[in-house]
Amino acid sequence: MGRTIKLFDSVESTQTVAHKFASQGAAEGTLVLAEQQTAGRGRMGRSWHSPKGKGVWMSLILRPLVPLQFTPQLTLLVAVALCRAIRQIEQVPVAIKWPNDLLIEGKKVSGILLESSAEDERLKYVIAGIGISVNLRAEDYTGELLEKATSLRITSGAEWNRSELIRTFLEQFEQLYTLYHEEGFEPIRVAWEALTISLGRPLLARTTKGNVEGVAESIDEMGALLVRQSDGTLTKLYSAEI
Ligand code: BTN
Repeated sequence: MGRTIKLFDSVESTQTVAHKFASQGAAEGTLVLAEQQTAGRGRMGRSWHSPKGKGVWMSLILRPLVPLQFTPQLTLLVAVALCRAIRQIEQVPVAIKWPNDLLIEGKKVSGILLESSAEDERLKYVIAGIGISVNLRAEDYTGELLEKATSLRITSGAEWNRSELIRTFLEQFEQLYTLYHEEGFEPIRVAWEALTISLGRPLLARTTKGNVEGVAESIDEMGALLVRQSDGTLTKLYSAEI
C-alpha cells in the first residue's frame, strides 16, 4: 500500500484525481495525496474543509477481490486502521462512530468516503477517501464547525507528523486488508466493535425512510447497524445520519 504516491499541492478533490488514475489502470495501493483541496467532498453531498498543509487529505485506490455489495465493509476496515494508527502514535481517546467517522470527545476528527466503480454489477475499483484534521488550530475552523469538529493538534496540544501518520495508517491498513482477504469480514467486525462508541447506547438515526430510535446492539456481516427499538423490533441500518 502506498508504494506509488501521487502528491499534489492543490487539487479540487483527491477523490476525483484518484478516479482518473484508477480508470487509467493505476495499481492497487496507489495513494493520491494533496496539501490542499479546494472542493473536498464528504458524505451526503457535504463539503470537506481541507486547508493547506494542515491535514491529511488522501485517496487510496483499491481493487478488492470481493463482490460489489461487500464494499461497505471496507469503510469499517478503513476506520479500524485509522483509529489504530492514531492510537499507536499517541494515546488520544479516538473512537469510531458508525459508519465512518472518527471522534474525539464527541467531536469529529476524521471522515471516510468510499466510492466504487462497477461495470455490469462487477466491481472495478474502490476509492477510499480519507480526511484527517491533523494540525488545524481552533482559528482554522469557522462558525458551527468549531462546535462539531476537532483536530489531533487541538486534542493533544502539539503538532503531529503527517508523514508518520500516513505511514502508520498504511501499515495498519495493509495488515487488516490482508486479513480481510484471508479470513473475511468477521475479524474486522470484531475489531471494529472494540473501537466504536456507537453500540449499547440510545440513538436517533435519520434515514431516507424516516427516523429510527433505539439502542444499537451490533453490526452485521455487511457492516449494517442493528438497532433494537423500544417495541423490541430489530432494524437494520445500511446508511443513516446518527
Ligand atoms: C465524511 O465524513 O463525510 C467523509 C469525508 C471524506 C473527506 C476526504 S478528504 C480526502 C478525500 N477527498 C475528498 O474530496 N474527500 C475525501
